[in-house]
Amino acid sequence: MLKDKIEDLKKEKDVVILAHNYQIPEVQDVADFVGDSLGLARQAAKTPHKIILFCGVHFMAETAAIISPEKKVLIPDIAAGCSLSDSITLEQLKQWKKEHPSAITIGYVNTTAEIKSELDYCCTSSNAVNVVKAIPDDKEILFLPDMFLGSYVAKMTGRKNMLIWAGECHVHAGITPENVKEKLNSLAHAEFLIHPECSCTTPMMYDVANGSYNSNQVQILSTEGMMNHVKNSKSNEFVVATETGILYRMKQQNPTKKFIPASENAECEYMKMITLDKVYNSLLNETTVITVPKEIADKARLAIERMLEIS
Ligand code: 13P
Ligand code: SF4
Repeated sequence: MLKDKIEDLKKEKDVVILAHNYQIPEVQDVADFVGDSLGLARQAAKTPHKIILFCGVHFMAETAAIISPEKKVLIPDIAAGCSLSDSITLEQLKQWKKEHPSAITIGYVNTTAEIKSELDYCCTSSNAVNVVKAIPDDKEILFLPDMFLGSYVAKMTGRKNMLIWAGECHVHAGITPENVKEKLNSLAHAEFLIHPECSCTTPMMYDVANGSYNSNQVQILSTEGMMNHVKNSKSNEFVVATETGILYRMKQQNPTKKFIPASENAECEYMKMITLDKVYNSLLNETTVITVPKEIADKARLAIERMLEIS
């Protein structure tokens, strides 16, 4: 079986497999760690293994290569990109910084290595609020590239001097307030979990800040924050507003609870490019190796290390 062959190669070549929560079930099953962007970056930083096989999208594998430069980092499909990380170019960022020369630049981990090399701080959905809180109040902030995460962070921190780039992830932006209303109206007792990249976040912000929507309890969380929440919550039913791949792990770890996607269409085609066949080929041939030029990696590492220090 392919799964057994993968296990054998993993041992033989001293490989750790890291997989994001949105990966297909078969890929999650062969991974040593499944988690969110922050958790996987932490695993990449401390792994004792020689090779990291990253089952996720390109910027995640790049982040692993930057923080563990002595390791070989592989991605099973080099075409696994991210619409959010494509929403700002290096030229655009340089121009933005030029217009605000004394601002602190905070970028989401969903950015290319080149963009990260121009940042003061990197953040993920699980620590964005705390990263912004760590910046002195009088400092202007440039936040990029996700506008929904940015608006959420500005609301939670009360920050007024924060400029937000107008980028978005097509998957999360596609989960609309209408999708959510429709589900919640018919499920009075379900808790509602939203990823802050969702477009439904902003219009619902007032209700969310009050801790509820209709009669439903609402939580805005990163993917791993969602995993922890469903495990500890007394509720038995959850409407989940993020990429649907996470439902597999939720159901597996909480077999008596019920999980309903806010939108069945919320599938990231980039995440789904990683198949078990490609994982096997990647291990066998040690392809595709992710490399980041040293001068870019050295600068980007500073922003990533600051992110890892703040949880
Ligand atoms: P997190 O795993 O950090 O919540 O991010 C979600 C995401 O969209 C990654 O592409
Ligand atoms: Fe990028 Fe969106 Fe896919 Fe996440 S879900 S990898 S942010 S395109």
